[in-house]
Amino acid sequence: MPKISQKGIQMPESPIRKLVPFSEAAKKRGIKIYPLNIGQPDIKTPAVALNAVKNNSLEILAYARSEGSEAYREKLTQYYSRNNIHVSAADIIVTTGGSEALSFTLGSITDAGDEVIIPEPFYANYNGFSVANNTKVVPIVSSIDTGFALPAIEEFEKLITPKTKAILICNPGNPTGYLYSKEEIEKLKILVLKHDLFLIADEVYREFVYDGNTHNSIMSLNGLDQHAIMIDSVSKRYSMCGARIGCVISKNTAFIQTVLKFAQARLSSPTYALIASEAALETPQSYFDEVITEYVARRDILISELNKIPNLKVSTPKGAFYCIVELPVADADDFAQWMLEKFEDNNETIMVAPASGFYSTPNAGKNQIRIAYVLNQKSLIRSVQLLNLALTQYNG
Ligand SMILES: Cc1ncc(COP(=O)(O)O)c(C=O)c1O
Repeated sequence: MPKISQKGIQMPESPIRKLVPFSEAAKKRGIKIYPLNIGQPDIKTPAVALNAVKNNSLEILAYARSEGSEAYREKLTQYYSRNNIHVSAADIIVTTGGSEALSFTLGSITDAGDEVIIPEPFYANYNGFSVANNTKVVPIVSSIDTGFALPAIEEFEKLITPKTKAILICNPGNPTGYLYSKEEIEKLKILVLKHDLFLIADEVYREFVYDGNTHNSIMSLNGLDQHAIMIDSVSKRYSMCGARIGCVISKNTAFIQTVLKFAQARLSSPTYALIASEAALETPQSYFDEVITEYVARRDILISELNKIPNLKVSTPKGAFYCIVELPVADADDFAQWMLEKFEDNNETIMVAPASGFYSTPNAGKNQIRIAYVLNQKSLIRSVQLLNLALTQYNG
């Protein structure tokens, strides 16, 4: 039989989606499942974006420009400038989701075996994009006890080798909810300049910052023009995950020209989704104010309910809509599957993402799960009640 590639074999399963067969089976048994595993917000997409597609009278659904239209990229620069990020249309390549932006970035800066240092736990698909691009992930552990703050810069420095090409951070963090401070970003800047590395920041959760904190983009740092690469997406900002539009931004022209070649090879991002994304830029500030208020309320209720469970550890997220929860179980993968296969209360259970897939250090995060607080407050309260009951039964 013809053989599958080593790369294909090494491609990791998504920890967020791998329990789907068990949840589908549970649904067939009539069980209601609260999905805390996936970052699919239940928030409505802005009407202005949906209407732009609905009211469109296109007669040919043509290809778009590979890098995204001039008009859309110009409007993006205005959005960024309101966020203290000053870039020009030429610095932006529009992509099919932040996912493609990440993949094109690794494709553009790494050769086989080149290394990228990433604080873990990290967004699990970084593993997948790295395998696909033959990039080696070098993890650096951040701890739940510090709320997943940036590890000491000396620890980063110890990991730098001649193969290191970049440091990749996610700010605010998925799955940690950590928001890097200005000082932490400045420390990374000094390090990447010293070793002439790229600093990649995945800022797709920029709007989701709580408690009066401000988001510090790497694109606002002086002196980092040749080194900074920013990843962005409309998925979470406008609750438009299905549009599949994102972008990659850098002032490094050699990098952008290289990304453009990857973009040309896939021709263009989907035209209707581009129309929706461009219109979404007209979303009023009141939309975001309401969304942020709702997420803060969800976070607060979730964390206070979780803290009532004995022997459980969680740190309060400062941004995004996820948290890592350390459970009194040895194997959270087994526990998460058990909740779908063997547990129910009043015909209800929960689906969570085992956190081991958010680490690349073997056996790290074995007793942790990630919870996405993308459900309404009542559902979150019920979900934590189910988690508590499940823990008691599982450990009983
Ligand atoms: C941190 C992070 N980066 C990138 C992505 C990819 O987003 P998309 O491809 O939907 O733009 C996600 C999606 O959940 C994410 O959480």
